[in-house]
Amino acid sequence: MKHYFVTTTDGIDAMQLLERDVPTPKPHQVLVKIHANALNFRDLLITQGGYPRSDKRPIIPVSDGAGEVVAVGSAVTGLAVGDRVAGNFFQGWNTGNLPDPAIDTALGGAIDGTLAEYITLDADATVIIPEHMSYEEGATLPCAAVTAWHALQAAQLKAGDTVLLLGTGGVSLFGLQFAKAQGAEVIITSSSDEKLEKAKALGADHVINYKQYPEWSAQVMEITNGRGVDNVLEIGGAATLQQSIASAGLYGTVSLIGLVTGFEMQMNLMLALRMQKIQGIYVGSTEMFRAMNRAMTQHKIKPVIDKVFSFDEAKAAYHYLAQAGHMGKVVIKQ
Ligand SMILES: NC(=O)c1ccc[n+]([C@@H]2O[C@H](COP(=O)([O-])OP(=O)(O)OC[C@H]3O[C@@H](n4cnc5c(N)ncnc54)[C@H](OP(=O)(O)O)[C@@H]3O)[C@@H](O)[C@H]2O)c1
Repeated sequence: MKHYFVTTTDGIDAMQLLERDVPTPKPHQVLVKIHANALNFRDLLITQGGYPRSDKRPIIPVSDGAGEVVAVGSAVTGLAVGDRVAGNFFQGWNTGNLPDPAIDTALGGAIDGTLAEYITLDADATVIIPEHMSYEEGATLPCAAVTAWHALQAAQLKAGDTVLLLGTGGVSLFGLQFAKAQGAEVIITSSSDEKLEKAKALGADHVINYKQYPEWSAQVMEITNGRGVDNVLEIGGAATLQQSIASAGLYGTVSLIGLVTGFEMQMNLMLALRMQKIQGIYVGSTEMFRAMNRAMTQHKIKPVIDKVFSFDEAKAAYHYLAQAGHMGKVVIKQ
């Protein structure tokens, strides 16, 4: 079977397209024929080295993939040949808190991922994708969607809350869809007015161009009549965290998710003394993935896909994501 392989830290073009035998599922595993993959910001970092956690190589990259079960191990119950599935990002985190050893079970980072024609998954960490979604749509769920879902659930989002989303990347757009489905008011930022118009069409109530307003917490305060927001999905890191904390109201929650602008910063710590909660989020459990799928099914939420590439064009898909012109998920179809 064909698979991509990251063997160096020399970037996207150093990935190799190789052949190996189709894996045999162990008793507790299923064999999945992958029909689609989706890329995340993390997948770019993994080709360069320096991803802060479980940066192992050589490795089959990519956490997100959806496909059809083609064989089941002898001990597997509850899944059958023909099921349309995706794997949980952490193959070792099924329920409750993330167990310590499970941090080293991330697909496409610590263990072989999904950018292959066939993969084996732990049956307990395999999730049926919603019926109203295609394989391309289902493939977008494991990382960005579960992360956004986890962050909003952990912040105990309720109807009427105000949610601030940074940029229009994968995590933020799922955050927008989930927050609106749960009755929240949404403020979203972007570097592009065109993307902000599209975000409005997806339901965003208020938009801010963060290039036009580098101190955008002032705009957030104006929109919220000085109250600040209840929840921030913080994906920016170094260049945005201070503005995010300044945008949150008393007792607001800032979910620390991503670091697209960098890992290290200096900030005024006084800002966070207003009984705010800063919570780290690291994707989520299989149980969260299933709960999210039920909500997406109930509300008929469809992931936003920007562009679909073929398996042979996978490197072009990576380059396209790296250019950051996308709005929605970048998908590779097999
Ligand atoms: N902790 C976790 O479990 C977890 C899970 C998933 C992702 N992440 C992390 O979350 C981050 C986002 O991931 P993603 O997959 O959503 O990325 P993505 O689809 O590549 O989107 C990145 C977006 O970041 C926005 N951005 C860049 N600079 C910004 C700034 N200064 N202020 C506000 N927005 C800015 C851009 O939005 P515009 O184009 O609209 O300007 C861009 O589209 C990454 O760091 C990723 O590693 C973490």
